[in-house]
Formats: sequence, structure tokens, C-alpha cells
Amino acid sequence: MNNIEIAKQLNKTLSGKTPQTIISYCIDYFKSSIALSSSLGLEDQALTDMVTKINLDTTIFTLDTGRLFPETYDLIDRTCSKYKIKLKVYFPNKEDVEQMVNEKGINLFYSSVENRKECCRIRKLVPLKRAFEGLDAWICGLRRDQSVTRKDMQTVEWDEANSLIKINPLIEWSEEDVWDYINQHSVPVNPLHKKGYPSIGCLPCTRAIEPNEDIRAGRWWWENPETKECGLHKR
Ligand code: ADX
Ligand code: SF4
Repeated sequence: MNNIEIAKQLNKTLSGKTPQTIISYCIDYFKSSIALSSSLGLEDQALTDMVTKINLDTTIFTLDTGRLFPETYDLIDRTCSKYKIKLKVYFPNKEDVEQMVNEKGINLFYSSVENRKECCRIRKLVPLKRAFEGLDAWICGLRRDQSVTRKDMQTVEWDEANSLIKINPLIEWSEEDVWDYINQHSVPVNPLHKKGYPSIGCLPCTRAIEPNEDIRAGRWWWENPETKECGLHKR
């Protein structure tokens, strides 16, 4: 079986199962060639709790863009202490960041979608490629009801853009399901969630939302919903 067929087969086996079953099965299947990609967001914190309870040796990595919220840095530290793990942190290439910022400005992302995507490419996508070295599969915290761009995502899918198998254990969960898990298991979370930030990315590109706004309305709020992916989850 090639990887595309493996992804299809795993999806058939694991769709509708609990996140813990999905994670256990995949860690057992991929061993050390699977990792959790964590932004320290609500979903990723729930997944970190599950993954560390299943296997403390599974790699958990995060992409530090250099523009995260102070609260997120603090949460990296609290998470490592609580679970007694070392989150693997990837940084962007300093020459690329310097060149981009010196040519286009420190806050280039506000002036065009093109600039914003360039910043996400340099600060997230290039480091992500390094994080993928040696991996066959990655675990993400995507949920179907997060966005129009995520409606048809599967529990396990072939991630063509990255040539990897992508596992989305929380794909069927609602935001409420995630909060229930967080509260039941006393999972450390970003204090910004309680201040109107359901979805947190980089500081200059995330704002708080109003009570009836979409949960991703605060991400790249100046762009329209169809462009609002940073490229990590291209399909
Ligand atoms: S984004 O594409 O809009 O930035 P979002 O914040 O919803 O993504 O996160 C979706 C999933 O992408 C997370 O659950 C996580 O698996 C991965 N992810 C997003 N940002 C990062 C990051 N900085 N480091 C590692 N993984 C990330
Ligand atoms: Fe740059 Fe904003 Fe993308 Fe972060 S979210 S990498 S600051 S454009």
C-alpha cells in the first residue's frame, strides 16, 4: 500500500472513534515517525494532554514565529513543566526574516494578502518543513466547524501539500467538547481564550472577537474568510 492508500484505510478504520483511540492507534502504527504539531491553542492543549498520557516520548513541536503573544510563550513554559516534556521549538531562518522585514516593513502583513502569505511562509511554512524531517504523519488540532475552509476535512487524510499523512483526532468535536475535556482534565490553557480569543495565532494578526462573531473572525480579520489560512493546511 502506498501512503495515500494507507491514509484512506486508516480513515476508514478510525473515523468516528474517540480522539484517544485515534491517537493511540496512530502512535502505535507510526511509532517515532509521528508528531503533534501544536500552536498551544485550545485544541492542541487537549491533544497534548492526550498524547502525553498515551506516550510521553511522542514528539510535540511548535513553530515560534517570533510574533506570538507573551501569554503563549508563558503557556509553552507551563505546558513543559506540567507534562514534564520538552516541546520542540522551531524558529524561522533569521536571514529570511531580516530580508523580508528590511524590504517590506515590520508589519508587512497588513498591506496585502500576498505580503501576509509571504510572512506566514517565512515564519511558519519553511520551519514546518524542517519539523517534518523524518516524519510520515502529523497530528493537528483541526475541527470541521472552525471554518468554511475546514468543512470537508477527514479524521485521517493524505496531505498532498506536505506529502505526509495528516491525523485530525478532534475533527468531529465542537468547541464545547474541547472545553469539557480541558475542564475535566485541568489542562493548562492560554488565558486569552477567556478574554475573547477562541483562536490564537500571532499577536499582530489576531484580535478578540465580539460575542456573536465567528470563532476565527479574529484571525487576519482584515481579510475575507476564503483567504484565511496561513498555508499550513493547504488542500
Ligand atoms: S492556522 O493555519 O489558522 O494558523 P490554527 O491556528 O487554526 O491554524 O491551527 C490549526 C492547527 O495547525 C493546530 O491545531 C496545529 O496543529 C497547527 N498549528 C497552527 N499553528 C501552529 C504553530 N505555530 N506551531 C505548530 N502547529 C501549529
Ligand atoms: Fe506573519 Fe501574521 Fe503569518 Fe504570524 S500570522 S507569520 S505575523 S503574517
